[in-house]
Amino acid sequence: TFVVTENCIKCKYQDCVEVCPVDCFYEGPNFLVINPDECIDCALCEPECPANAIFSEDELPAGQEVFIEINADLSQKWPNITQIGDQPDDREEWNGKPDKLQYLER
Ligand code: SF4
Ligand code: F3S
Repeated sequence: TFVVTENCIKCKYQDCVEVCPVDCFYEGPNFLVINPDECIDCALCEPECPANAIFSEDELPAGQEVFIEINADLSQKWPNITQIGDQPDDREEWNGKPDKLQYLER
């Protein structure tokens, strides 16, 4: 399965949702997650993310393992998203900032 990781927080570009063939993205206030039970491992979303926040769970960068559970958990609670909506105005400023997990709104 593929996993949305930390750099999506407060960037939330949403380019990813437009390409997913099974519509398995779910939307929170400032972050998106992938439902691991629905993802078919097509890898189409990975290169679409301007924040490079999407990885195969087998290739997660060090320190990002916590996002496996976060995606599994929050995809059960948040609504489905299939089209790009409003993006944060300051998304470019947040792209690449470290330690963003503290800002995740659930
Ligand atoms: Fe959707 Fe494919 Fe990305 Fe999984 S890997 S979330 S199925 S686009
Ligand atoms: Fe997040 Fe990247 Fe999608 S920033 S909303 S994973 S395009």
